[in-house]
Amino acid sequence: MSERHIHPIFEKLLQREEREERLGQHSKVVWLTGLSGSGKSTLALHLERLLFEKGFFAQVLDGDNIRIGINNNLSFSIEDRQENIRRIAEISRLYVQSGIITVNCFISPTRAIREFARQIVGPDDFLEIYINAPLAVCESRDVKGLYQKARKGEIKEFTGIDSPYEPPEQPALEIRTDQLTIEEATEVLFQFLLPHINSKN
Ligand code: ADX
Repeated sequence: MSERHIHPIFEKLLQREEREERLGQHSKVVWLTGLSGSGKSTLALHLERLLFEKGFFAQVLDGDNIRIGINNNLSFSIEDRQENIRRIAEISRLYVQSGIITVNCFISPTRAIREFARQIVGPDDFLEIYINAPLAVCESRDVKGLYQKARKGEIKEFTGIDSPYEPPEQPALEIRTDQLTIEEATEVLFQFLLPHINSKN
């Protein structure tokens, strides 16, 4: 790369802690990982609503939305998935510095990709949540009809079919969406998060 004349600003007159205090919370990146159809987005939206009602300030970042906007030039090769996650992690870091909780719903299929995200965000701010439903369940839900297309070979490199998904070995929390209702799953996740985001702690 040619020489770049870039001078990032690191000194701040306004600190993250002051923003968090204004918002009455500790900001975190809640990183939901799991297969397509495992329920990440549904759970994230319910959590976002519940957090809002309880007085917290949160924002969902979702794979499908991000991929039609800022990441619309990326494919589903492992390299492009890594670039997808790199950009999301950088965006999340900006949010977290602004005092905002982000709830991220990205397959983020490999341990290396999630570790990469953790390092960008900063390990103290990164909560890895495994949204687990067996492949057969995700496939039978097939909300977007994509598994059927992947089985027919109309979509290549589909996670769980012909592209890998490596489950987290030590997630901060695992939620079995095939065993809980959406209300139960939301409550479990909310109760887990509370000590991390509650400014009274
Ligand atoms: S990630 O692997 O890079 O983290 P991301 O979460 O952004 O994936 O996008 C996943 C969403 O893209 C899926 O929920 C699905 O709707 C859609 N999608 C389209 N093609 C694929 C594919 N080949 N593999 C996985 N998801 C795909």
